[in-house]
Amino acid sequence: LARTRLDLSDELAARVLGGEATLGIADLSDARPAEAPGRPLWLRDRRGVILGTAVADPENGLLRVLSRDAVQTLNEALFRPRVRRAMAWRRGLGLADGRSACRLLNGEGDGVSGFEADLFGPYAVLFVYAWGLLNLGRVLARTLLELPGIEGVVMKVRLKRDPGGGPGAIHQEVVGREPPESLVVHEEDLPFEVHLLSGLNTGLFTDMREHRRGLRRFVAGKRVLNTFAYTCSLSVSAARGGAATVTSVDLSSGVLAWGRENFRLAGLDPESSAYRFEAEDTLRLLEAEAGRRGAYDVVILDPPTYSSARDARFSVRENTPDLVERAAALFPAEEGGMLWVSANTRRGPSILPAVEEGLRRAGRTARMLEVGGLPPDYPTLVGDARARYLQVLLLHVTRRPPWNA
Ligand SMILES: C[S@@+](CC[C@H](N)C(=O)[O-])C[C@H]1O[C@@H](n2cnc3c(N)ncnc32)[C@H](O)[C@@H]1O
Repeated sequence: LARTRLDLSDELAARVLGGEATLGIADLSDARPAEAPGRPLWLRDRRGVILGTAVADPENGLLRVLSRDAVQTLNEALFRPRVRRAMAWRRGLGLADGRSACRLLNGEGDGVSGFEADLFGPYAVLFVYAWGLLNLGRVLARTLLELPGIEGVVMKVRLKRDPGGGPGAIHQEVVGREPPESLVVHEEDLPFEVHLLSGLNTGLFTDMREHRRGLRRFVAGKRVLNTFAYTCSLSVSAARGGAATVTSVDLSSGVLAWGRENFRLAGLDPESSAYRFEAEDTLRLLEAEAGRRGAYDVVILDPPTYSSARDARFSVRENTPDLVERAAALFPAEEGGMLWVSANTRRGPSILPAVEEGLRRAGRTARMLEVGGLPPDYPTLVGDARARYLQVLLLHVTRRPPWNA
């Protein structure tokens, strides 16, 4: 592709010099050079000094700054030092050991704006954030494959519009060795089954690893309700943490079957009366359980930001107070219980006000025990608050304020 020069205003030039990894195409005085997806662009200030090289991503309305030099070709040499540094950081964390799962490349935080990669044992799943970045993604995939310990890379691009009409279709291609349909990875002593070749989600969210481990600190002997359980990874953690009973709820019976398999892999019998799997809408299940006050000591709420699956419309913004209100009603009246709530805050503020609203409606109050987020294998740029999208709150829900107990 021919190199195109793009002149930046003083303000945009200052932002590039300040280390920002993306610029909005809408902010350019002349957007035409940035209209071709994947096109490399030399960014110049008003004196003609080249500030760096960016790539055009009009699907997301962005210029992605990839280098502070005038790079001649966007090839493996550009990515190699970043990919090696990324791997060294995860190895230093005790991850990326050929058997575990973690984030390997986290977009801007690892100098690869437009791309993210998760590592599952010897395979990487590379998420490419626009169709126009596919060629560059292939270059990145080949660079990942140079790393010792990586045997294959599965690239996934979410298509904005499915040629068949529906949303949510993905394009997928494999570079290097194709992973098996089903693979087992480990988090310390816990095995989980992942499927790297089907759909966008693999069965294990790497951003929750430390929260799965953290859960084990306070579930021993407790009755745990895990809602929006997906493949039951938090349920398995709770069960292995010594929970007396674990109930897992998800709309999809398919993911719950996968969850049972995760129980078996972890040496737990999913047919035991201590474990229940309910294919049900969470709000409906919480309502049905409402008559059983005192039925649970720990409730996990890990909803998707938005879902319209099977007529059970759900949105975090609207439904968090309902979820919290109904969950809080299930704890023993005197001792109360532990509420574990997560939210993806990329598109909104903290969920704490919605949680407070739910507690108020339930006539309860709470002590905050922990506010968590992304683990260190998810580095983000310091100025980019939106990139720290994960919020996990741990609360001890009580009947009255602790000073009044
Ligand atoms: C973000 S995932 C949950 C991740 C899971 N807690 C984990 O740690 O792996 C969302 C899950 O919620 C389920 N789901 C969506 N709407 C639901 C509803 N109204 N009731 C129950 N499950 C729902 C989906 O089927 C999906 O498995």
